[in-house]
Amino acid sequence: MAKVLLVDDELTMVQMVGDLLRAEGHEVVPFTNNHAAAEALPTTAPDLVITDLYFEPGTKASPLGLEILRKARELSPPAVVIVITAFGSIETAVEAMKNGAFDYLEKPFKVDELKLSVQRALAYNAVLSETAHLRKQLKKKYQFSQIIGAAPKMQDVFKMVERVADTDSTILVLGESGTGKELVARALHFNSRRQFAPFVPINCSALPENLLESELFGHRRGAFTGAINDKKGLFQEADGGTIFLDEVGSMSPVLQSRLLRVLQEREVRRVGDNTPVYVNVRVLAATNEPLEKRIKEGTFREDLYYRLNVISIPLPPLRERREDIPLLTAHFLRDKVHPRSNRPYQVTRQVMDLLCAHDWPGNVRELENALERAATLCEGEIIQAADLPPSILAAAPAGSALLEAQTPATLPALSDTAIYPLHPSSNGEPGVPQPPPGSSEPMVPLKTFLREQEQAHIKRALQEAGDDKERAAISLGVSLATLYRKLAGDE
Ligand SMILES: Nc1ncnc2c1ncn2[C@@H]1O[C@H](COP(=O)(O)OP(=O)(O)OP(=O)(O)O)[C@@H](O)[C@H]1O
Ligand SMILES: [Mg+2]
Repeated sequence: MAKVLLVDDELTMVQMVGDLLRAEGHEVVPFTNNHAAAEALPTTAPDLVITDLYFEPGTKASPLGLEILRKARELSPPAVVIVITAFGSIETAVEAMKNGAFDYLEKPFKVDELKLSVQRALAYNAVLSETAHLRKQLKKKYQFSQIIGAAPKMQDVFKMVERVADTDSTILVLGESGTGKELVARALHFNSRRQFAPFVPINCSALPENLLESELFGHRRGAFTGAINDKKGLFQEADGGTIFLDEVGSMSPVLQSRLLRVLQEREVRRVGDNTPVYVNVRVLAATNEPLEKRIKEGTFREDLYYRLNVISIPLPPLRERREDIPLLTAHFLRDKVHPRSNRPYQVTRQVMDLLCAHDWPGNVRELENALERAATLCEGEIIQAADLPPSILAAAPAGSALLEAQTPATLPALSDTAIYPLHPSSNGEPGVPQPPPGSSEPMVPLKTFLREQEQAHIKRALQEAGDDKERAAISLGVSLATLYRKLAGDE
């Protein structure tokens, strides 16, 4: 059932069409006065508008008729509009279609014509709302707030990502394994105007040279044994969007020169085919090993390096931003582990000590996996030191209080162990991220420390409010203006 706003200056027409639509199960809001209809549009919020454009005999399309059309298209979500025109006024219909009308019906029209047009308009409307919903979800998944990090080095990453996302620049994302290179690449794509076109990731180290070549560039049937059909390459699949070349350092010299050509000429040639195909693709690349080293060894082309490295975004290893470990832990337990298990996991202070002391060679991915494992193993809802992987327990500094937690015999009654305040408390107040125990970061002035804590707290409130600043301000108990000032770093 849809809500239909119906406008026509002829009462009989409104009655006839109105009855017909009601018989089809729709809710009808009828008007014979176009001013009243235009005014009622925002509050009625119809799915469909059926309006006459031809209000006064002897005149061309009434500006008010077009006004209804314009207002209907400006609603959020916009209503689909079917325009009814008088016999012979084709210019009016053309003008209406130009202004975004979905369809027009010429008077006199048959009942079936109207029914069909309404059906098509509503089907179109349903597709539009579904697409809008999916886009919103996708965007939410890859919005910046999904990248957790309050450390100054991560703030630099955010600034850079924000600055370059909506450009066509080639970008090289650098960082050890598990630092979030793919996450950043996706954020770049989903925050660019290419977001509705494909994001195509490919791990260049996962395939042997000839397979990777045909994956990237495609091939013609018969180009090599086994090529039984023509195949489009990933560059073509990504047309209009973004290709993400992960571990680009492991590409063979032959493929490196082919890639260089694509970057220079913006065209690809399939294997076994000399005809170039133009592609409009943004290239993002990532590497977890310094390419300069490979250039010196002669295994990576210097000219390709300069093409890829137009802008680089270095991601810090987790051990260089230990203050983010509590934030990441809260994020993973709340948003990743918790929704799957339906249990609001907590961690003890001991666990947080151990997590902050570990060196995390596998970076954020290792932390995520360790927490997932711990949550699976733990009995109840409080993750204890004994639930952590042995590698983390083994790495605790010798002779420290942390080490004592390794041996279950020396553990205090586990349920008595104080809980680290990760999640919002029951009174709705979010847990303030604590300074990382055992952090090797140098001492900072109190003012800087407080400001960082404040920024992390604000960021968390924004995340929880889905980036809605007004809601975040309310949950923080400050005015919107104060929140903006604090975000701008003015206070
Ligand atoms: N800053 C972050 N905030 C939240 N989650 C993160 C962050 N960084 C990484 N992750 C998560 O850690 C995991 C690994 O991230 P990702 O795959 O982007 O790393 P990578 O650098 O591409 O790793 P690799 O070099 O092994 O390919 C993912 O599940 C990702 O969502
Ligand atoms: Mg990766």
